[in-house]
Amino acid sequence: MKNIQDIQVNNKNVLARIDADVPIEDGVVLDDKRLQASVPTLKYLLENGAKVTIIGHIGRPKGKEITELKIRPVEDKLIELLGTHLNWQILENLRFNAGEEENDPEFAKLLVTGQDLFVQDAFAVCHRAHASTVGIAKLLPTYAGLSVQREVGGLQKILKSPKEGFTIIIGGKKAEDKLPVITNLFEKAENFLIGGVVANTFLAAKGVKLGKSLIESQVLGQAKEILAKFEHDPKKKLLLPVDLVFSKSIEEPLELRYENIADLNHLDNYFACDLGEETTANFVVAIKNSKTIFWNGNMGISEVEKFRKSTWRVAEAIANNDGQKYAGGGDTTSFIRQLGLAENFDFLSIGGGATLEFLSGKTLPGLEVLNK
Ligand code: 3PG
Repeated sequence: MKNIQDIQVNNKNVLARIDADVPIEDGVVLDDKRLQASVPTLKYLLENGAKVTIIGHIGRPKGKEITELKIRPVEDKLIELLGTHLNWQILENLRFNAGEEENDPEFAKLLVTGQDLFVQDAFAVCHRAHASTVGIAKLLPTYAGLSVQREVGGLQKILKSPKEGFTIIIGGKKAEDKLPVITNLFEKAENFLIGGVVANTFLAAKGVKLGKSLIESQVLGQAKEILAKFEHDPKKKLLLPVDLVFSKSIEEPLELRYENIADLNHLDNYFACDLGEETTANFVVAIKNSKTIFWNGNMGISEVEKFRKSTWRVAEAIANNDGQKYAGGGDTTSFIRQLGLAENFDFLSIGGGATLEFLSGKTLPGLEVLNK
């Protein structure tokens, strides 16, 4: 990979793509982790004499200007994080222009006007072939920023050198993005612990009736194929829920039912909201015996206090493990941070879909251009 440390940036006009896709409410950035991730790169460029034009996107405005997705709150936060507004400027949300996602060469040309170099520091968007990932790279010498280097280095460690006793923990939604990770890491890992909607989907593929629980039916076929792989290889362990907590309502989680999945009767109006005690205990034992752990996706509806017990216990079990510990995905890493456990992990990836595609073994177009 071509890195910013390999070139002179003094007196150069540098276009720097950062990951500005942060949650914003009433004009205030709620979580600045992704912006913080690019601060070392921006400081490096500024301290070495570059003039920096920062670009990034927020949300999915689909080519339209949306007031709530304007870049201003990000700019304010960057002034605070960098401690200066000298020698840098930031352009408006790239996705207000349809040319960004369409990778329109004219839009890319507009962005590179007056620029000497392009620095890619937004790992989380490198799985997209957009103007600000691949388009600009055709027009300017392109280098990886420090955040991209850190992400790629961290994720490569998971792929290249997991210690024996490698456990993958998958939860949350977006089974479509997560099942390929299980398939790609099937040979490397021994234990696969599954919670969240991904677990519901596997259980549904096995014919379990889960009432009103969320299931991603478009991947039931893929889930069945993965189940068959596990049946043919007794060395690989797939741990699915054996019991779950059910509720009728997210808003008023009063009447919770603790059910063994072998006996799910009269659950028509209920949905699964957390792992049960026995499942959580099984997961904690597996985690204890692991030497490398990768976790992406929460075990239950962890944004609701009553439904976060199993995710909490899984997070603590991983944090207490002495091996190598990695996590990715916005919900999971912010949950780890909320519990104050970030320091116990070797690496928290800031990418969502990009991290999953990397671990699925796919080529990320935005990274490919950094190797040319
Ligand atoms: C992310 O949040 O994972 C990145 O910003 C990419 O966003 P996208 O899925 O809208 O392309």
